Amino acid sequence: MPAESRVRLGVNLDHVMTIRQARGTAYPDFREAIAATERAGADGITMHLREDRRHIQDADVYLARRVIRTSMNLEMAATDEMRDIALDVLPQHCCIVPEKRMELTTEGGLDVLAHQARITDLSSALGEAGIIVSLFIEPDEKTVAAAAEAGAGAVELHTGTYAQTRGKAQRDELDRIRAAARQAHSLGLTVNAGHGLHRGNVAVIAGIENMHELNIGHSIVADALLMGLEEAVRQMRSAMDAEP
Ligand code: PXP
Repeated sequence: MPAESRVRLGVNLDHVMTIRQARGTAYPDFREAIAATERAGADGITMHLREDRRHIQDADVYLARRVIRTSMNLEMAATDEMRDIALDVLPQHCCIVPEKRMELTTEGGLDVLAHQARITDLSSALGEAGIIVSLFIEPDEKTVAAAAEAGAGAVELHTGTYAQTRGKAQRDELDRIRAAARQAHSLGLTVNAGHGLHRGNVAVIAGIENMHELNIGHSIVADALLMGLEEAVRQMRSAMDAEP
């Protein structure tokens, strides 16, 4: 398939940094992770600077802006602190996500209707700085309409429910995602999607008409661990056996 008609792959590297933060080491190195991801053909690098800084740190965001050769997508809560950081870093893309201190991950889409004024202001501040703004939302008709009204350039449709359900419930959710993608496209919004996608469930989502980009993190990092574990153990063995 020609590269320009393929759905773009944005790789979320948050959980590579979760491993670094768990031990407070300098490794795994963020710059190396970005370079490896880009060498493998990713179209963009995504990271979420969380309020609690549990994985990505402020310095990572600044480093990423300097070293990413593809495209940088900064996921962030709709706070003044994050707006100021985004306006200083100037990534190509910002995805506004809901954030609660104790959640394991982004648990649901942004309630655009409930926060319309704040999200409109934020979209306009970021948009004026040349950043393409995406809103991470449930595949819901009213929310898609509200995202367009808020002046976003894109929506990222939450695929978490699709990923977690089976059978009829999953088929119904897929219908909702398809309808939301159609509606968003007809309103002039770029259509992205993500959350909970892995090699076993991604093809159907990538096949949705007008899908522009998928953002995928956890399953890639999980695969990377198991695909790379054998080699890592081998290399430790040979380091132990080398002349000191
Ligand atoms: N898109 C958004 C907006 C997210 O918040 C996340 C999770 O950080 C992802 C995509 C990636 O989800 P996953 O890690 O389940 O692939």
